Amino acid sequence: MSFTANRLLLFGATGDLAQRMLLPSLCALDADELVHPDLRIICTARSEYDTHQYRNFAREALEKYLPAERRGSVAEFLNRLHYQPLDASNPSGFGALAEEVGAYDDGLAIFLSTAPSLFKPTISGLAQSGLAGEKARIGLEKPLGIDLDSSCDINDAVAEAFPEDRIFRIDHYLGKETVQNLLALRFGNVMFEPLWNAAHIDHVQITVAETVGLEGRVGFYDEAGALRDMVQNHMLQLLALVAMEPPVSFDATAVRDEKVKVLRALRAVSAGETVTGQYRAGAIGGQAVPGYDDELGKQSDTETFVAIKAHVDNWRWKGVPFYLRTGKRLYKRTTEILVQFRPVPHSIFTGTRSEPNSLLIGIQPEENITLSLMAKVPGLDRDGISLRKVPLNIAMADAFTGTHKRIAYERLLLDLIEGDQTLFVRRDEVEAQWNWVDRIRASWAENALLPKPYTAGSSGPSAAIALTERDGVSWHE
Ligand code: BG6
Repeated sequence: MSFTANRLLLFGATGDLAQRMLLPSLCALDADELVHPDLRIICTARSEYDTHQYRNFAREALEKYLPAERRGSVAEFLNRLHYQPLDASNPSGFGALAEEVGAYDDGLAIFLSTAPSLFKPTISGLAQSGLAGEKARIGLEKPLGIDLDSSCDINDAVAEAFPEDRIFRIDHYLGKETVQNLLALRFGNVMFEPLWNAAHIDHVQITVAETVGLEGRVGFYDEAGALRDMVQNHMLQLLALVAMEPPVSFDATAVRDEKVKVLRALRAVSAGETVTGQYRAGAIGGQAVPGYDDELGKQSDTETFVAIKAHVDNWRWKGVPFYLRTGKRLYKRTTEILVQFRPVPHSIFTGTRSEPNSLLIGIQPEENITLSLMAKVPGLDRDGISLRKVPLNIAMADAFTGTHKRIAYERLLLDLIEGDQTLFVRRDEVEAQWNWVDRIRASWAENALLPKPYTAGSSGPSAAIALTERDGVSWHE
């Protein structure tokens, strides 16, 4: 149903996500006059703040996390915020929350990020207090379960209160500009699509490397591990965007229909096609950092690194490996996709090496696209032509000077408020993702696979290098 909400109900309003991302995103959208002029934001969490105290809290977050030039009139933005404390485990508190929200004839957008144990009580509290009516839609932030069963359980609970077309499952990677640019690159240009298949592509690499460690999320991360935290959602979404068939249009049903086909075509991975690791003490950027066990305060078998050789079993991708890797405390922060093309079928140049082309899509920290081409080295070529690889490089920041680099949540919050589901994950996608990931975990358990140690500040365990080298492939560094 299409409506632009003029009420936004923000759960977890005192949490880290709210401080770093949600409040800054909303303030930036407001500064650009992109939100409803009457937007009222009702913030809730367990803390016993009043509205005045919460506005002070929000002001501090904005000063810390939103660059001054994007803030606009902070005082006007703060006036949109209202605070209502809530213990979501106690159904009686929802009446007061509903009163604070008031009538929402123009529409209510709810953003729910909460501890897994509060999920169900919150959904039923919303339903019972009239906050799940026809003019209400809900955005759900992870973690949404730890496996297929728990995810279905959550999806069933939400489905009792909201139909699928009013459920917005967030994967913040889909809010990133360069991730959306993948679609523009593939389907806004004529030259890639004819080559985008097993006949011309040798393999694809997707890397999400982080330098950060646990960042204080001790309990959550140790339960999750890298496979659930990063691969199940962000990396599989990236893979789906790279591998999907052209959708007929850029709309929620068409795009998600194509993504889910890819996710369902993922071949079950054997234990030998995965590598897991856990970081030990080391140094990053000249700074000593502790090992995972030390940060956690106990011994653990949770993986902080995972590399996987995946396959999409369909006509387009027959025999093309998708190498995925992600890890914490690696030597640099980078998210990138490398599409490695096959060599030319026959080289007419003797005595010089022609390297296959590649397309590197840098998602963060730098947003750029580099196509590597072979070019003739200038000269008179008395001994034959000599070739060298040269980059055709587009730095997005230079190509689009004068535009803001937006926070991924700006896009997602705006789409939630306006009701566009294209960049949100549908239930069938999430379930296909869990299905694949659960089978990987089961294979680890069967084989009693334990994470291999790697030094913080390295590129992960050496077994991850062996995973690709066996196929004659090197990770792009
Ligand atoms: C989150 C994970 O979903 O994504 C974190 O829970 C991770 O562990 C983060 O650090 C990475 O996001 P980004 O946008 O910094 O790449």
